[in-house]
Amino acid sequence: MKLKFDYNNMMESSIGSHGVKQSEIDKANKAHDAAYKEVIENSGKGWQEWTDTPLIGKSEIDELNAFGKSIRDKASSFVVLGIGGSALGPICVFNALLHLHHNELPKEMRKAPKLYVEDNIDPERMAALLDVIDVKTTYFNVITKSGETSETLSQFIILYNILKKAIGEKAAKEHIFVTTTVGKGALYAVAQKEGFKVFGIPAGVGGRFSVLSNVGLVPFAVMGVDIESMLYGARAMRTACERPDIKSNPALMTAFLQVKSMQAGKNISVMMPYADGLKTMADFYCQIWAESLGKAVNKAGKTVNCGQTPAKSLGVTDQHSQVQLYTEGPYDKVVTFIGVESFGDSVDIPADETADIGDFLKGHTLNELITAERKSTEFALTKAERSNFTILMPEVNAETIGELLMYFMYETAFAGAYLDIDTFNQPGVEEGKKATFAMIGRAGYEQKLQELESVKKNDAYIIK
Ligand code: PA5
Repeated sequence: MKLKFDYNNMMESSIGSHGVKQSEIDKANKAHDAAYKEVIENSGKGWQEWTDTPLIGKSEIDELNAFGKSIRDKASSFVVLGIGGSALGPICVFNALLHLHHNELPKEMRKAPKLYVEDNIDPERMAALLDVIDVKTTYFNVITKSGETSETLSQFIILYNILKKAIGEKAAKEHIFVTTTVGKGALYAVAQKEGFKVFGIPAGVGGRFSVLSNVGLVPFAVMGVDIESMLYGARAMRTACERPDIKSNPALMTAFLQVKSMQAGKNISVMMPYADGLKTMADFYCQIWAESLGKAVNKAGKTVNCGQTPAKSLGVTDQHSQVQLYTEGPYDKVVTFIGVESFGDSVDIPADETADIGDFLKGHTLNELITAERKSTEFALTKAERSNFTILMPEVNAETIGELLMYFMYETAFAGAYLDIDTFNQPGVEEGKKATFAMIGRAGYEQKLQELESVKKNDAYIIK
């Protein structure tokens, strides 16, 4: 494992009475054993097939890479259509591993097509996409686990229609490939009928735990991401997260500390990477943490209404907007910093006489400055007795990103096990999906429509 996890500042020894006592960790042995067993004994089973996603063999990786290259070689643009767990994994990995201005690079410097991950149905965004891509040379990966999600299906219908008009039906079929559950859902049926290439998603891999399945691997292969190293990193983290002793298991320890802090009133979990390439990693974390742990009932059906509200923050940018609140506001947060030890580039701050602002910056690098600012924020928070911990990455590359993604999945699974909830369902999201089907007139949802129409609004409470 290349990542390091420093949880000193979660502990009473660093932040006084706001921290967790070592004796609380020691005394909770039964809870650790139960959470550990729940996750590890179900590894690869039921909704925990995600634990096995990094185990695919060399031949499957070779096939994915060959397919990816065949698309990369002919595409001017590559568009991913998906939402939630079918988009956030690809988004955060591309943000971390591609050039930060990938699409703006001159063609000869760009080793892969321009990339667009369309995870919203704002009509202006669809129109804007069509303004910048040439559909004739654009390839589309439609990703939906259920094959039924209105947002993704509507995007698919619009773009397939445009493609057919632009290049004819036969060629259009070659420009679309889908990632979905084989044998289930509307998209799979269409793919069969139209002859689109289909990549499967294992039945027991849910959306927000699917980044290392074909949901992520297919688009990564197209963009030339080093899948093999990413899966190697994920496997290394899997091994670390299977360590039975909480003291050496990063996901079990931080899950326990988060849950313990949450139960002590720290209901907000801030994810604060100090690297632009990790900005959307905070979005990935926010989804997996919110959708997995925000639950009405526990496994026994008892009302618990649990969950810790995730918030995203970017170092150093948000030092100048949010950190004031984190340092002096309510004691209701846990801040997770992600630090990077060695950045892909080094930028000097030159000694420039015409811009002489004293000597405190010159001769240093932006690398030193961003690291100093991360450590200073950690210091300020700790001094103010605020719970925080740091995930340290030696550098951002495919291997360490694989580790980080796997860690987030295990940490979430362990936290759900400590809370004794169903980590892998999302009844709240499903309710919204059904209401959308009803409002848009899908057959079979007539009763839901009646329920929706029975909701009356009081005009007195509407300000016009
Ligand atoms: O984590 C989840 O299950 C959700 O966020 C889904 O990924 C999201 O709702 C999209 O679903 P689907 O992949 O079925 O289109």
